[in-house]
Amino acid sequence: MFDLLKFDVIKVNNYSGKLVALESCRNVPFDIKRVYYIWGNNLHDIRGHHAHKKLEQVLVCVSGACDFILDNGKEKARVHLDNPAVGLYIKHNIWREFTNFSHDCVVMVLASEHYDEKDYIRDYNEFLKVCDQ
Ligand code: TYD
Repeated sequence: MFDLLKFDVIKVNNYSGKLVALESCRNVPFDIKRVYYIWGNNLHDIRGHHAHKKLEQVLVCVSGACDFILDNGKEKARVHLDNPAVGLYIKHNIWREFTNFSHDCVVMVLASEHYDEKDYIRDYNEFLKVCDQ
């Protein structure tokens, strides 16, 4: 239903900070066409509530932590992300919700397509029908 990508962390001599580089078709498994990020959510907000027909995404919690609830129409999984060196890879036809946001949570999303509202499935019953096909 999903993969966790563990990115190499580059540690530069004499600096305490770290660096992760993300590259299309190398450590990100598709050609990146769009990057967006979400932040400023309240702890109990629930975002998402949709699936995508074609879009693939890698989600990275670059600051703080949050939970992703994923659903393939048959089973659900809950994934807690709190590490900027880990990416959650979600392919198409997965219903997703995000919640349990820490106050400092910033989620960066790498997407395989430009924004297209027609690629969204926002009705859960319609999603279940697509899963059954
Ligand atoms: P949506 O993907 O539903 O947000 P989330 O799943 O994070 O709750 O998008 C929210 C709104 O933002 C929606 O009106 C579409 C708009 N939007 C864009 O215009 N471009 C984008 O790249 C994205 C992701 C959303």
